[in-house]
Amino acid sequence: LSNGLALTPPMGFNYWNFDGCKTNLINETMMMDTAYAMSTNGMSKVGYEYVNLDDCWMAKTRDENGNLRADPIRFPHGIKYLSDYIHSLGLKFGIYGDIGSETCQGYPGSENYLEQDAKQFAEWGVDFVKMDGCNMQVSDMKKAYTDLGQYLQNTGRPMVYSCSWPTYAYVQNITMPFDYIEGICNLWREFQDITDNFTEWTQILDEMEDSVPKRSQFAAPGSFNDPDMLEIGNGLENAVEYKSMFSLWSIIAAPLIAGNDIISMSKEALEILINEEVIQVNQDPLGIQGNRVYKNQKLEVYQRTLINNSYAIALFNRGDTNSDISITSEMLNLTNHQNYNIRDLWSHTDNGTFSDTFTASVQPHGTVLIKLSPKINNNNNNNNNNNNNNN
Ligand code: DGJ
Repeated sequence: LSNGLALTPPMGFNYWNFDGCKTNLINETMMMDTAYAMSTNGMSKVGYEYVNLDDCWMAKTRDENGNLRADPIRFPHGIKYLSDYIHSLGLKFGIYGDIGSETCQGYPGSENYLEQDAKQFAEWGVDFVKMDGCNMQVSDMKKAYTDLGQYLQNTGRPMVYSCSWPTYAYVQNITMPFDYIEGICNLWREFQDITDNFTEWTQILDEMEDSVPKRSQFAAPGSFNDPDMLEIGNGLENAVEYKSMFSLWSIIAAPLIAGNDIISMSKEALEILINEEVIQVNQDPLGIQGNRVYKNQKLEVYQRTLINNSYAIALFNRGDTNSDISITSEMLNLTNHQNYNIRDLWSHTDNGTFSDTFTASVQPHGTVLIKLSPKINNNNNNNNNNNNNNN
């Protein structure tokens, strides 16, 4: 969607993956403390900006004028108060709604209220709208998501528009017009909900890579595929697996929406989330989504084209034992015999020169993530330069 927003994948926070609606943790205090933590723990400095609600923020009914309202126990001061606080920290505020008659958890949906809700969101100072798709026929979604997008735009307030339509089409095996949704939404959820489980999130990755039509072709500045929010720090996987998730979400230009408890996360989780060299891959201004370029049983290679003729390459070991993974210039389609500097984005070290091959030993479920940047002078030019220097 060309509304000037999400020119790179949005970065932020959403509570769904760690809390759902299960406990009474979802409330004003948690949202405010999370925003404050993000503004002081290094996250906002590296680009996390959206602090987003998900399901269960609403009261069970609309008010007498048909307006959405916050659950008075969870959000006693209302939504504008929360939004103002988040803005006062220099962060942005995201809200959740559902395009159907009710949200997935049974709160009021926006069906028949699309224009009213869009205006309400703008009045509250919303910067990001995640629009879920429970309780509506998939065949009605094209019109509904299009209309809401128009109403959001009509408010004049810039709001990132995240649409769940393809997820509902996917689970019902209905064909999606991706060339159309790319024009009306900034992000679109693709597959089933993620969980904090290596097998399950790698399945989402497979669905993305095996997708027909190939989803990566629809990604561009302003329009990104959304394989779902991060699980880093939620505790059921180890740091190696979380680093793999962060590496691969960066390669596939996915939104980086932290889905863990920001207030009390471990230092280890925070360090993964704020690895600037990896974030730089995710936030590359070209907005080109990378792809899997090699697969041999449990060993895989992913490649993303970056600005300045550079590439991010992930060597991903899905197996249960340490394994060597090799990349070659043929595999990466780099047949110009250019020399590249190899930068390891997790160890933050330079790792020699790539001309034709590179091999790394990769831990079980681990990823070696490197960036290849052209050496200013290749071998031939070096000779010329040396001559010049001698003159
Ligand atoms: C389904 C979505 O895919 C999830 O991310 C979450 O928003 C839940 N609905 C909330 O009910």
